[in-house]
Amino acid sequence: MNYNFNQVIPRIGTSCGKWDSKEVYRTKQVIPMWVADMDFPVAEPIMKCIRKRAEHPVMGYAHRGKDFSEITSQWMEKRHGWYIEPGWVTFSPGMVPAISAAIQALTKPGEGVLIQPPVYYPFSGTVNACKRKLVENPLKVSEGKYRMDYEDLEAKFKTENVRLMILCNPHNPVGRVYTKEELWKLGELCLKYNVLIFSDEIHSDLILKGHRHTPLASLSGELSQITLTGVTPSKTFNLAGLQTSAVICKNQKLRRDFDSAIRMNGIQFPNIFGLEAFKSAYTEGQDYLEQLLVYLESNYTYCKRFFAQRLKPLRTTELEGTYLLWFDCRELQMDCEKLDGFMLNQAHLGLDSGYLFGNQGRDLCG
Ligand SMILES: Cc1ncc(COP(=O)(O)O)c(C=O)c1O
Repeated sequence: MNYNFNQVIPRIGTSCGKWDSKEVYRTKQVIPMWVADMDFPVAEPIMKCIRKRAEHPVMGYAHRGKDFSEITSQWMEKRHGWYIEPGWVTFSPGMVPAISAAIQALTKPGEGVLIQPPVYYPFSGTVNACKRKLVENPLKVSEGKYRMDYEDLEAKFKTENVRLMILCNPHNPVGRVYTKEELWKLGELCLKYNVLIFSDEIHSDLILKGHRHTPLASLSGELSQITLTGVTPSKTFNLAGLQTSAVICKNQKLRRDFDSAIRMNGIQFPNIFGLEAFKSAYTEGQDYLEQLLVYLESNYTYCKRFFAQRLKPLRTTELEGTYLLWFDCRELQMDCEKLDGFMLNQAHLGLDSGYLFGNQGRDLCG
């Protein structure tokens, strides 16, 4: 079927995190764009499954059957050419709970957990909440692209007692889809310094033309033994409110330790609607996704042109994946507080301030 992504769907008053969380979005016609949550309708086959389940009059505990793992495995192979055994798949109610469980399961208080800012800010929040040492390996810009700084990474691995790193690929907010070569280099260093990896691949189905997602763990048998990979249809199919994710790990010991932490936090039970939506998205979502990617590509092209013609002082970062835009406001010569006020009160946009993602984001104010 053809999807109409131009349809405007009012969401105010639907207990919606994006639109209902601040009075200003309701009263001042500010457009919220601060969260990775699309205003598009959910694909019809998914809605059908949810409706069907809603018609059943009993809503007891859900059971994640074997099909959850088999379907995840099939999607990984079909979309990313990554063969995984269904037995490597486990459950988490979301990516952030999975990161938290991985930190609790795989590191001890005082050990280092490394992140690569500017990056999705719950990474640092979760490391801090778990009382681990936050170690930062900032991305650096070269030839107009954010790239990993391997020299700094190795130095941090040598000196900061790093036990786990949280990779974001594709990267929120800078929109990078790391190449095989970049990931190889990272993986080799992790193997050399005995560092485990949680690879957050939540945006891995949202890849723009000319780029290809590589699951880090698919690169080698050795890497698949030290990596937990988080995947979910939640961003791709706009299902984040249903809180259902999968975590893939070949290494049985790591997977079991991870599952223990999930149980310790009491979050092992899936949501029945989440399960139905997850399985439908990964079996019947291909058609929607192909159309969505065309639409997102044209949105990005439109945005780039608009910025170049009408918003000359602002510079966008080249987008390789995700539907997020990270832009440089230094030429506006406003400090961060002034810029926040300008975006909200004059531009009428509800954005996430760059500095939330790390100090590198602060540097992009004036
Ligand atoms: C990179 C990344 N990880 C995790 C999340 C949140 O995932 P969840 O809602 O499953 O915890 C987001 C949401 O924007 C994200 O961009």
